[in-house]
Amino acid sequence: AEVVIVPDRQAAGALVADEVARLVRARPDTVLGVATGSTPLPVYEALPERLAGADLSRVQAFALDEYVGLDPQHPESYRSVIQREVVEPLGLDPRRVHVPDGSAEGIAEAGEKYEQAIAAAGGIDLQLLGIGTDGHIGFNEPGSSFASRTRVKTLTRQTREDNARFFDRVEDVPRHCITQGLGTILAARHLVLLAFGAGKAEAVAGAVEGPVTASLPASAIQLHPRVTVVIDEEAAAGLR
Ligand code: F6R
Repeated sequence: AEVVIVPDRQAAGALVADEVARLVRARPDTVLGVATGSTPLPVYEALPERLAGADLSRVQAFALDEYVGLDPQHPESYRSVIQREVVEPLGLDPRRVHVPDGSAEGIAEAGEKYEQAIAAAGGIDLQLLGIGTDGHIGFNEPGSSFASRTRVKTLTRQTREDNARFFDRVEDVPRHCITQGLGTILAARHLVLLAFGAGKAEAVAGAVEGPVTASLPASAIQLHPRVTVVIDEEAAAGLR
C-alpha cells in the first residue's frame, strides 16, 4: 500500500476529496464506495466545494454496510447517515445510492441483491474505508473469510462499545449487520483507507505490515494491487 501520513483530519479530507473529485469529473458515471462512522466525515465535508458545478446525475454510490433491524428512518441507520452526509450535501440522485437492506423482510435476499447491484453498476471504482479498533473493514469482524461477499454478520462487543457513542446506550446498538464481504471490498478498483487517532494505531500497523490473516480482516488490503492509506501521526505510530 501507499501510506500517506498527514498532519490532521482536514488534510486527509482535502487529499482524498481531491482524488474523488478528479475521478468524478473525468468519469461522470463513477461508482463510489462510501463508508460511514466518524472517519470519512472530513472527506464528505470537503467534497461539495470540489464538485461544485460537476454533473453528478450519473454518479452511483454503494454503502459498505447497514445495521440489521434498525428502522431505515432511524437517524443512525446507515441509510439515514449516507442520506444526510453524502446524498444531500452533494445532491446525488437517491435512486443511484445503495445501502444494503437490513430490514427483517429483506434480509434473506439482501446480500445477493446487493452483489448483483454492484455488478450491474460495473463494480466500484473507489472504495473509502475506515478501520475498526478490532481490525474490521466494513463490518467484517475478525475471522471473516477473505472470499466473503455481502452477508449478515454479528458485531463484536468491541464494535458495539465503539459505536455506542452514536446511540443512547450500548444496548441500543444492533447486534447484527449486513456488510460487503472482504471479497466484495477487494474487488473494488482502488481502496482508500483512512484512520485517525492513537486508538487505530495497532489495527493500522496490522493492516499494513502485519501478517495477512483473517484475525485482522483489514490485512486483506495487502492482497489488493491499488491501496492508498491516509492516516495521521497518531494512527501511524505502530508502523516501522
Ligand atoms: C463503516 C464501517 C466501519 C467503520 C469503522 C471505523 O461503514 O464499515 O468499518 O469504518 O468501524 O469507524 P469510525 O470511523 O467511526 O472510527
